[in-house]
Amino acid sequence: MKVIQSRSSEETQNMAKGFAKKLSAGSVLALVGDLGAGKTCFVKGLAEGLDIPKEISISSPTYVLIHEYPKGRLPLYHFDFYRLQHEKEVTHLNLEEYFDGKGISVVEWADHFPNLFPKRTQWIRFKWIDETTREIQC
Ligand SMILES: Nc1ncnc2c1ncn2[C@@H]1O[C@H](COP(=O)(O)OP(=O)(O)OP(=O)(O)O)[C@@H](O)[C@H]1O
Ligand SMILES: [Mg+2]
Repeated sequence: MKVIQSRSSEETQNMAKGFAKKLSAGSVLALVGDLGAGKTCFVKGLAEGLDIPKEISISSPTYVLIHEYPKGRLPLYHFDFYRLQHEKEVTHLNLEEYFDGKGISVVEWADHFPNLFPKRTQWIRFKWIDETTREIQC
């Protein structure tokens, strides 16, 4: 496990950009951390690393649960479980089809349903240290 201190949102994005280069179809990333800890910031960096065009904006799919970004080196499937309390609320998404699909799956608030994730999942934890500093464990 690596522990990284990020001193700015740009640094978090850059770290994620580098991380994206090592990913391949079927990679699953489970993001954990409080509100404002930097999860979406990390996903923005992933999108950049996957060469998703810059004019496509990345935001937490808090209400729709999933945003799909098909235009990069690999498709990116971005989920957000923030509002959810029961596993049955994601049944209709057919998560396994995404996890085993042609793209990369990344899930914010993954700790709401840790049992839904395959063994190969890479867990990434974000901790708020101060206004501009975050600790990232991966
Ligand atoms: N080192 C840092 N890394 C990441 N974000 C930072 C950092 N320093 C400050 N920030 C700010 O913290 C906020 C992180 O917001 P972000 O939307 O990524 O959080 P989140 O974990 O996705 O929250 P939510 O659970 O509400 O979706 C942004 O406003 C960002 O500019
Ligand atoms: Mg978010």
